[in-house]
Amino acid sequence: MDRKSFVTDPEIGNKAEAFEAFDDIPTNPNLSRTIGDVINHRYGRRDLLRGALAVTATTALFGTSAIVAPRRAAAEGHGARYDFEELTWGNDENHHIAKGYDADVLLRWGDPITADAPEFDVMNQSAEAQLQQFGYNNDYVGFTPLDADGARGLLCVNHEYTNEEVMFPGIGRQDEAAYADMTKELVDIEMAAHGGTVVEIARGEDGKWALVRDSRYNRRITPLNTEMMLDGPAAGHARLQTNDDPTGTRVIGTLNNCAGGMTPWGTYLMAEENFHGYFWTDRFDADGYPVLDETLPEAASYDRYGVPGMWFNWGQYYDRFNIDKEPHMPNKFGWVVEVDPRDPDAMPVKHTALGRFRHEGCETTVSAEGRLVVYSGDDNRFDYLYKYVSTGTVSDDPAANSALLSDGVLYVARFDEDGTIVWMPLVHGTGPLTAENGFNDQGDVLIDARRAGDILGATPMDRPEDVQPRGDGTAFVMLTNNSRRKPGQVNAANPRPESSFGHIIEIKEAGGDHAAETGTWSIVVKCGDPTLAEVGAEWHPETSANGWFGSPDNCAIDADGRLWVATDQGSDWAETGKSDGLYALETEGELRGLPRLFFRCPVGGEICGPYFTGDGETLFLSVQHPGTDGTKDFKGFERESTFADPATRWPDFDPNMPPRPSVVVVTRQGGGKIAI
Ligand code: FEO
Ligand code: CA
Ligand code: CA
Repeated sequence: MDRKSFVTDPEIGNKAEAFEAFDDIPTNPNLSRTIGDVINHRYGRRDLLRGALAVTATTALFGTSAIVAPRRAAAEGHGARYDFEELTWGNDENHHIAKGYDADVLLRWGDPITADAPEFDVMNQSAEAQLQQFGYNNDYVGFTPLDADGARGLLCVNHEYTNEEVMFPGIGRQDEAAYADMTKELVDIEMAAHGGTVVEIARGEDGKWALVRDSRYNRRITPLNTEMMLDGPAAGHARLQTNDDPTGTRVIGTLNNCAGGMTPWGTYLMAEENFHGYFWTDRFDADGYPVLDETLPEAASYDRYGVPGMWFNWGQYYDRFNIDKEPHMPNKFGWVVEVDPRDPDAMPVKHTALGRFRHEGCETTVSAEGRLVVYSGDDNRFDYLYKYVSTGTVSDDPAANSALLSDGVLYVARFDEDGTIVWMPLVHGTGPLTAENGFNDQGDVLIDARRAGDILGATPMDRPEDVQPRGDGTAFVMLTNNSRRKPGQVNAANPRPESSFGHIIEIKEAGGDHAAETGTWSIVVKCGDPTLAEVGAEWHPETSANGWFGSPDNCAIDADGRLWVATDQGSDWAETGKSDGLYALETEGELRGLPRLFFRCPVGGEICGPYFTGDGETLFLSVQHPGTDGTKDFKGFERESTFADPATRWPDFDPNMPPRPSVVVVTRQGGGKIAI
């Protein structure tokens, strides 16, 4: 598939499917390195299929010292440790939660979030109103308390993208229609619906959370009008200088903010994922397909990052999204943005020290010496896993802590066949990262982090999504799927060709120290239906028909150090027949690899978040793009959703309202921790 597909391919049902299809473009030039010569010694054995305990394999290979003691003793691991009654799998118009819990809708697309905001009027939307209302396609959710008992706090939510076909009346999918009905007015609403939201929420006497609408903290952050600065080694670089900013230190907006993170000092990190999709060119060939001028200075970098993606036509109205007019502007996206939710006047900062790629998640932890460590995936087929280690250490001074994201070392991961992970520094002048290879300075290394990873021999992964570190030197990596990996391209850490269902890797950093430059890795589960031998799934033998899942995407660690996994199967959900869901997944002891279904979302949606409050009593979930993905396979509906005719009208079920992406808050009936 080539670039032209994204403008005209009728097989692509919506933006999410375009995202998937774009990954078919082999942007990683290193794939030949893995073809035909990597034998999967560790996980290819049939006796490890289904039911064999991955922990046994880990122990055999590394000894028991490789397994750092979890916060909860493994000795408790007889019988299910998550004490909820497993939900039954399925897929329908509504969401479902395990018995004994409430799942209440907290914030919906369009809900007014400031005292002056107009009420949502879906037939009369405007950018001005949207700038004061909750955005579209909520993804990451973070929370930072404002008082000692955590009953008040700030909710920080990413808004990844927009689905015009169910958002605006009467226009249908615009990528199919060459954006014919996509006026500047609608583009401005799209831009105002992207970005992020910070709102104060409070827990009432009844234990229920609600928006504090008149809070001074409430604000939207958008690609339409939020000015940001860039700092770190690439700030001011010639390749970041644009007509509207000759200093190379300022940019308007952030976009495609997918998973994210919170820092230990309570700031909010917004990762910029599929930024390439927002850039436009006016250069078309005789058949009307966009073409890239390969003589441009940025052409090789564009190729590696997939610029211009042409998924949105913002560049027809804004020069800053047109690469013919602002060839350096794509270099100002693909970063991690830090927002101080406690200071509504503070300008967000894009921290270039954390590198530029399609950041999926930026979860933080603190190393043994007190350094800040940030893990981040690059969500593309055959791309890499990264982590960042600050030079300084975390202190009680929030202002000083922000500098930790400006000065440190970015590493890219190599997963060796013997179960070792090697973190390779992306430092100019180190190894091949020199001018001879096109890296003139550290700015070049960070702007082209992918190309730096290529030359260092990083391991091409099966789409690294969210990565969740735990305080004991462990990190869990969600590899969502990669149906394009050929049999000759497998490696030990990505062992399945044509992997439709993904897998989860556990990293144990050396000495339990997240700043370590080496560690060990093992596969926790290989996802998919364990009853189908050809799938090659590996789960705990007690895994139920409800429990197994495909396409892990987002994840969280609860107050007791246990893993929860949210899925995003996209338009391929029919391959499992299950809606996307949230699963508790055992990772320790004899129960390692045992999943249990806790929550499932309405048809066409995916689950994001998840985020547990510090006391473990509240769980925030994002239900993103309800009613859109793969609805042609939804029995009884079997067509693409439109504004007038959606597969579900969740959560309002009002005949005059389309589906609305929403944040859901989960609590236990009667109170207490979500899972004991
Ligand atoms: Fe936006 Fe990688 O999911
Ligand atoms: Ca995601
Ligand atoms: Ca995803």
